This record gives sequence, C-alpha cells and structure tokens, in this order.
Amino acid sequence: MPNADPMQLAYEERGSGPALVFIHGFPLDRRMWIEQLSGLAGVRRCVAVDLRGHGLSTISDPDPVFSMDLFADDVAATMDELGADQADVCGLSMGGYVAFAFWRRHRARVRSLILCDTKAEADSDEAKAGREKTAQLVREQGMEQLWEGLGPKLLATNPKQTDALRLKEMFLAQPPAVIAADALAMRDRPDSTPDLGRIDVPVLWVHGEEDQLMPIDGARATAATISGARFAAIPSGGHMAPMENAAAANEAMGAFLKG
Ligand code: MLT
Repeated sequence: MPNADPMQLAYEERGSGPALVFIHGFPLDRRMWIEQLSGLAGVRRCVAVDLRGHGLSTISDPDPVFSMDLFADDVAATMDELGADQADVCGLSMGGYVAFAFWRRHRARVRSLILCDTKAEADSDEAKAGREKTAQLVREQGMEQLWEGLGPKLLATNPKQTDALRLKEMFLAQPPAVIAADALAMRDRPDSTPDLGRIDVPVLWVHGEEDQLMPIDGARATAATISGARFAAIPSGGHMAPMENAAAANEAMGAFLKG
C-alpha cells in the first residue's frame, strides 16, 4: 500500500552542466541562495535544497528527530533524483555541518567543497545546553521568540533593511518542531576537525568579515588546516555573507569553480 504521507524533498534549480548543491543554514531554507542560483547558473547546474521539514520539503513525523548524517543522506537522495553522481557541495553554517557529514558518508560524490560561515568543532557542553534551551523555546513559544534573540546576530552589524526583512520572513516560515529537531541535531553533531587534514578535494571557505556568530579569525585558522583551501573574506557580510554581499560571494565562488 502506498505511504499516505511520504516525505518529499524539495529543491530549486537553475543552469546546466555539473551540479552545484547548496545547503541552507539554521533555521532557514533554500531561498537564502536565490542570488547564487541566478549568479552562478552560467557556471553550474545550481541546485538549492530544502532540508527535510524546511521550506517546501515535508516530514512524515510531526515530532521529528534529525541528524547531520540524515540530512547528508537526503542531499545524496536529491542528487540521485537529479541524476548527478557528483557535485560541488556548498553549505552555510548548519549547511556546512551537513557538508562535512556528506564528505564523511559520500566522499566519492564530492567534486569540491564550498564552506560558508561555518565551523568544524562540535558544541561545547555550554553550547549543548543552549541547544536544549533553543529547542524548548521554539516548541513552547514559537519562532518569533527565537527571532528576537537570534535574528539580529545572523546579519552584519549594520544590515540592509531588505536583508533583515527577507531573512525574518524565511526564518518565521519554518515549523517550530523542525527547528527544535535541528537544534538537537546540531547539539549531537560530531567534531569535524579530524576530517580537515584528510580533505583531498578543492575547498573554498567563504566568510563574512562581520560574522557575529562565528568570528572570521577562527574561520581563517580552521581553513588554513585544510590543504590548499582558498579563503574569501566577504566585506559587509555577517553570518549570512552570501546573501548580504552576493556580488562578492558569487565572484569568489565563480572564480573557484572556473579554476
Ligand atoms: C546556522 O546559521 O546554521 C547556525 O547558526 C549554526 C549553529 O547554530 O551552530
């Protein structure tokens, strides 16, 4: 008997040629990559995924449990559907954690990695406790309350109003149960630091100069431990650097992909 409520994984794509898969951050969806889809469509078949439960992707369990591995396997399933054996894999923040998991689980399918405003370390005990508070907050009080504390930190210190409005709309559109499950999945993610020295595909690290959540100096130091990694500092970019300064991010990504 067919499943009455199957999980559906949504994605949006532009362009043609080798696949470039974009994985969004927390608590967002594929729409954060709109400028990359239009700006890089001449270089790659650009595919922005909605992780399960986010954006237009669905879940079959109303109280889901996620992991970075599960998200990575969903990305692989989407690539299967696209007929893409390999892809350039680009993830921002939580999307970067998924990209690391994808590298561990599906490394033969990775042509290159683009890591944006992310980090390799696992959560400290204090950060883990914070994830539990986040999960409880969104479950009990909803996304508006989470936005109050987290929203402004996602952008540069003097953000464009259009970026703030667009981000807030995307943020508030996500279901609280999904975002609670994201928080707990991030709490439980493994340390990706031991993988850094083993990465043997080209890597570009893109990071906002004004990232308030993950300061750029730490990102530079991490990127320096990846053999041959390029680093692009994005001026006027906060944690959402590819959205806040798409011109600079696309220029760095385009040059990397053409190279
Ligand atoms: C994100 O933007 O995906 C989150 O800030 C990641 C995190 O909280 O570790």
